[in-house]
Amino acid sequence: MQPTDNSYSAVSKLLHWLMALMIFGLFGVGFWMVDLTYYSAWYKTAPHYHKSVGIVLAVLLLVRLAVFFKNRKPAPLASHSLLVQRASKLTHGLLYVLLFFIVVTGYLISTADNRGIEVFNWFVVPGFGEFFGQQADRAGLLHQWLAYGLIALAVLHALGALKHHFIDKDATLKRMWWSKTDNAPVSKNLTGSTDLTNSTEENS
Ligand code: HEM
Repeated sequence: MQPTDNSYSAVSKLLHWLMALMIFGLFGVGFWMVDLTYYSAWYKTAPHYHKSVGIVLAVLLLVRLAVFFKNRKPAPLASHSLLVQRASKLTHGLLYVLLFFIVVTGYLISTADNRGIEVFNWFVVPGFGEFFGQQADRAGLLHQWLAYGLIALAVLHALGALKHHFIDKDATLKRMWWSKTDNAPVSKNLTGSTDLTNSTEENS
């Protein structure tokens, strides 16, 4: 596959949208399943799917980070001020950090009783029991609040992207979609790219 100028790679785009869908889905299911009673048909199956999708998300996060460190990001758009560039860099970093800790706390909740996590009945991620007292409760509280934080930030991030698209009418959203953006002018003042002379993220 040819490298594309001024756009995220196909793998990055696919991972971004797939993970976004999974995150909103996991949040919805997580919010709903904590109130299920023992008599609900979903009492056991909902947590099973929540955990299974969560582990798949963790694997995708590792792939995403590997792609992120291997490839250069496209340069920021010329129309983005330095403040906007820094704010989006901070937001993206924070989204990754929150996601990482949500995955870790989810694992700590599920494995506190020494049991492993069955992923779609495909394989089991081993559990190592408690690393600290009241692990399930403490990790559970953190997991919940980190998830609220992630969703709030993701909504803010999405609103920012929509504002760029509909109000500023720039190429921000198009570069994360499968639209042609080769001609969008990019900034020379790069905070987002690791290469200051080339705005190309190589396709992987
Ligand atoms: C849970 C949901 C989401 C998460 C966790 C998330 C996370 C991220 C991250 C980490 C990046 C930086 C990509 C990188 O350089 O590695 C990014 C970029 C981007 N996201 Fe999202 N995102 C989410 C949902 C959305 C939604 C709903 C939209 C649009 C409505 C959106 C639009 C964009 C755009 C346009 C970029 C590129 C920004 C730029 O080039 O500066 N994202 N997202």
